[in-house]
Amino acid sequence: MTTSATDRVVIFDTTLRDGEQSPGASMTLEEKLQVAEILDTMGVNIIEAGFPIASNGDFEAVSEIARRSKNAVIAGLARAIPADIDRAGEAVGFARRGRIHTFVSTSPIHLEHQMNKSQEDVLEIVRKTVTQARNLIDDVEWSAMDATRTPIEYLYRCVEAAIEAGATTINLPDTVGYAVPHEYKAMFENIRNNVPNADKAVFSVHCHNDLGLAVANSLAGVDGGARQIECTVNGLGERAGNAALEEVVMAIRTRSDVLPYTCEVDPKYMTRASKLVSAVSSFPVQYNKAIVGKNAFAHESGIHQDGMLKNAETYEIMRPEDVGVRATSLVMGKHSGRHAFKDKLTELGYELGDNAFQEAFRRFKELADRKKNVYDEDIQALVEDEITVQGETVKVIALTVIAGTGGPQKAILTMDVNGRHETREANGDGPVDATFNAIKAIWPHDATLQLYQVHAVTEGTDAQAEVSVRLEDGNKIATGKGADTDTLVASARAYVSALNRLQLRRQRQVNVEDVLAS
Ligand code: KIV
Ligand code: ZN
Repeated sequence: MTTSATDRVVIFDTTLRDGEQSPGASMTLEEKLQVAEILDTMGVNIIEAGFPIASNGDFEAVSEIARRSKNAVIAGLARAIPADIDRAGEAVGFARRGRIHTFVSTSPIHLEHQMNKSQEDVLEIVRKTVTQARNLIDDVEWSAMDATRTPIEYLYRCVEAAIEAGATTINLPDTVGYAVPHEYKAMFENIRNNVPNADKAVFSVHCHNDLGLAVANSLAGVDGGARQIECTVNGLGERAGNAALEEVVMAIRTRSDVLPYTCEVDPKYMTRASKLVSAVSSFPVQYNKAIVGKNAFAHESGIHQDGMLKNAETYEIMRPEDVGVRATSLVMGKHSGRHAFKDKLTELGYELGDNAFQEAFRRFKELADRKKNVYDEDIQALVEDEITVQGETVKVIALTVIAGTGGPQKAILTMDVNGRHETREANGDGPVDATFNAIKAIWPHDATLQLYQVHAVTEGTDAQAEVSVRLEDGNKIATGKGADTDTLVASARAYVSALNRLQLRRQRQVNVEDVLAS
């Protein structure tokens, strides 16, 4: 089937904004830069890099991503408030191509209970804020928050006003994940048929996954005439998340017979992007997750295996290599040098700065000394751990733990606190408890442990442990990950990483969730 320019669907990734808003998923500047880089490389058309008014950190991240972007348009989110729009304009102004994305709620329930405004008030706000944004930049997206629970006649008026004021993209989100595919498609058809200036803007879908329908709704919206899909890597996002980028892209590519659209994202980066986002957000990817889950291409049953051996197409609708899944390979040993290690990183798709490379190499040598077989997965865990540690101000330096049946168990820990080394000893009810108590002695805090999870990166008793720790402090939640062949060292790293992220959240002058709720 041939496609024309009107069949081009652009991918708008919001992992760094909606994704980062999920409780516990905050990322450091260094991590955001890494994620933005891979999104840009894989051909994502628009990267929503953050919410510049939310904090100086968010502003800095959006500006720096804007400065570094090679191909993608860089978008910054702004409420329908003049200061937000100015700040977003300033941040995305550093990009070759920037976009201000401004939004306001349009549904009766939001207008009455959240905003205390009339429909006429909101229409006036739409006109004013879109005009303001358009005076700053040519590329303006306007979103009708909670569009799917907005009376359609009122939505016509809002969309017409936004386009008249200069919006070039109109996003109609299913903010609460309430829509079903046929009605979401009909909403776009109705808007396009009834809004007089509808042909002057690109329409966009933005679906949350509360009923597990985010991808289906997104594709239905495209069927209804939308030509931009807002999505996130691994489906990260508020509550149950957003439509998963890898799923919408692979659905379009795999079923081009019934979804005749073009999309410029190169899927071979998907597995890497998924691993990176999982590492920096500390959100594990479920094993059976479509496209990027560990089991997505694993065939267990005898009948399936038999078919696969005869012809892969019997049970496989996509090839693992198309989405960047590589066969596990034995990598290097303790005799491998810097050059070989660098080549391996390039092959795995990592490009580290000088300091990060030196540190990763040092840790690789240490690992190769302790572990007989070093696999690609080991290198990935190590490098992702290193990327995570880069942006953190407090780090684990050394840990000795005395454990065993005798109790109480004891930990002696040294940490780097803003460039100063501090050592403390602490006892505990078990080695993990002792380790966490030693961290608390160096870095006093009130956070409580919500989750402590250990996974083995590869097989065998010498496998690296990957530990996830989730901490809660008041209304803030942060998750940290750490990897090491020593489970206790990995635990300490994960705990400290979560504390660093909690601090990052606290430093935000305006909490992003509070902003969205206001
Ligand atoms: O879900 C939503 O409505 C949003 C808007 C800010 C676009 O994320
Ligand atoms: Zn959203």
